[in-house]
Amino acid sequence: MAPGDPILGVTEAYVADKNPKKVNLGVGVYYDDNGKIPLLECVRRAEEQRMKTSPHRGYLPIDGLAAYDGAVQELLFSSKKETIVTVQALGGTGGLRVGADFLKQLNSGAQVWISDPSWENHRQLFEAAGFKVNSYAYYDPKTHGLDFPAMARDLNALPAGSIVVLHSCCHNPTGADLTQENWRSVLEIVRSRGLIPFLDLAYQGFAEGLEADAYAARLFAGEMAPVFLASSFSKSFSLYGERVGALSVVTGSADEAKRVLSQLKRVVRANYSNPPTHGGQIVATVLTSPELRQLWEKELGGMRERMKAMRRLLVEKIKARVPAADFSFVLKQRGLFSYSGLTKEQVRRLRDESSIYAIDSGRICIAALTSGNIDYVADAIASVIK
Ligand code: LMR
Repeated sequence: MAPGDPILGVTEAYVADKNPKKVNLGVGVYYDDNGKIPLLECVRRAEEQRMKTSPHRGYLPIDGLAAYDGAVQELLFSSKKETIVTVQALGGTGGLRVGADFLKQLNSGAQVWISDPSWENHRQLFEAAGFKVNSYAYYDPKTHGLDFPAMARDLNALPAGSIVVLHSCCHNPTGADLTQENWRSVLEIVRSRGLIPFLDLAYQGFAEGLEADAYAARLFAGEMAPVFLASSFSKSFSLYGERVGALSVVTGSADEAKRVLSQLKRVVRANYSNPPTHGGQIVATVLTSPELRQLWEKELGGMRERMKAMRRLLVEKIKARVPAADFSFVLKQRGLFSYSGLTKEQVRRLRDESSIYAIDSGRICIAALTSGNIDYVADAIASVIK
């Protein structure tokens, strides 16, 4: 019997819970203030347009819809380049896995380094591709923030050819991000030590905005090759189940890009043959229509602001209940998550006593807080930290 998934397993337990007051702060999903996963208006309109044409459901090319791949590349890197290859993938996870399989074929002796802590699936995914996975220092529990000197020290000690997985923004699970200055230092280390950066950008638009959140991707793409980048629209388009993501590889020349594309296509073909149509079509339609694109940016901004408001409310409400507790670090963390500092035991009590579900590591999903449940959650957290 395999162990349950540390994140999706929590959702399974939540679904089985009969308590009407239950709250799922486990999985990283954005909910609106009514506690619903939104269907964005830009998506609804794009779907309506698409359905009017009764589109066929033939196979897409192995590397996905060309309009989608091009629009993704522009969004990530600000313009399309013939040295960059983008292939549609099954969510960010799919992009990571296609990249991992490709890297394994290319350099089977390399090892992978992920942050400590990292998204639980990073380790599992790279191990499944056959890599030994190690971790580099990242988080300082005392400050609830990034320990950049320790991170830089560890990266500086890696052997050439090591694959380094970096969270471009909204670090999962901690919410603690690098500053732009930190990114420039990481670029220097990666370049001087001959490391292979693999960026994971699952939350573009959830920290500061589409441009600011692409800072690391654009910095690396402008300065070095190869760079691997997995990206996802699960969160930013609220299209989780459509599995819309991509893998982009920044190569050294247009000719190399062609060869890399040919290899990525082999990986995809042997894996799931070609990607699904619907989500990619919707995202491509929205990104390439000026009107829908503008609407998307507005809706995305609304999600970002709601998460920030929930961070502020949570801090205030815990302070009001337990004046000695300082949760102000939650305001510095960005994106969907906060590494709350709650212990495994406190997480267990939240679940057993209040049907509030969080990840054992203490990670909570800020976007699952609503004006309807925040008092209930703050009461429950207060009772376990008192
Ligand atoms: C999460 O971290 O909760 C999300 O990225 C969803 C997932 O696939 O784990």
